[in-house]
Amino acid sequence: MSAPVLTARAVTKNYRLGKREIPVLRGVDLSIADGERVALLGASGAGKSTLLHVLGLLDAPTSGAVEYDGRVVHDLSVKERALLRHRHTGFVFQFYHLIPELTALQNVLLAQMMGVSMFGYLGRRAALRAQAEELLGQVGLSDRLHHRPAELSGGERQRVAIARALIAQPRVILADEPTGNLDSATATGVVDLMFAVQQQRQLAFLLVTHDERLAQRCDRVVRMFDGKIVGEEAATGAGAAR
Ligand SMILES: Nc1ncnc2c1ncn2[C@@H]1O[C@H](COP(=O)(O)OP(=O)(O)O)[C@@H](O)[C@H]1O
Ligand SMILES: [Mg+2]
Repeated sequence: MSAPVLTARAVTKNYRLGKREIPVLRGVDLSIADGERVALLGASGAGKSTLLHVLGLLDAPTSGAVEYDGRVVHDLSVKERALLRHRHTGFVFQFYHLIPELTALQNVLLAQMMGVSMFGYLGRRAALRAQAEELLGQVGLSDRLHHRPAELSGGERQRVAIARALIAQPRVILADEPTGNLDSATATGVVDLMFAVQQQRQLAFLLVTHDERLAQRCDRVVRMFDGKIVGEEAATGAGAAR
């Protein structure tokens, strides 16, 4: 097994509710290697989304550490961390989180702009746009480049979100119930696409899902309960061939 690209060490997270501290993550240890697919299962409220936000540097842990390639990331400056987050990790959410006023292409381009200066962006505009178009083509949206989210189906919106997550060529994809809002046929198409991209690019992939069959298509299944990891097993590989 190659070295982990993403590690959580004894991560805790408390939320403050008035004067009370509510523990949501109670000491999570987790490592994901290059090219590894890990499913994260657990009842609603177990802390799965909170863990993903901490792993994706959208939120800081209360204690413990997150490491990217063995580097503790919360020691870095805000700027370094933002750049690392952009380059290292792509996010896919259940409700897509696309900007409604922007077209599919613009949504992907905006994510790309996060990683370059305005000057750098303007200088390479044509090349960056060509990359975004190519990526949208790879997710099957060549003829939807100029559609806004409201003009796209749920599955198409999630494909835009996948292209957006991939544009910075991250090593890790964190997906939070990415098919939770899709009918089962559409969900299968989106998952097949995500897995194909994951395998082709050898990405580390952490997938939060409620779908046991989908979880079994990963390499490893991790189960969470009440802010802790309570079980871990190799997936059976059932559900579909890789
Ligand atoms: N910003 C927040 N402030 C306070 N409590 C929160 C916040 N976000 C989540 N929680 C609480 O943390 C717990 C875990 O939430 P979450 O990580 O969303 O779980 P899951 O994704 O497994 O359903 C829940 O009890 C939720 O109410
Ligand atoms: Mg959640």
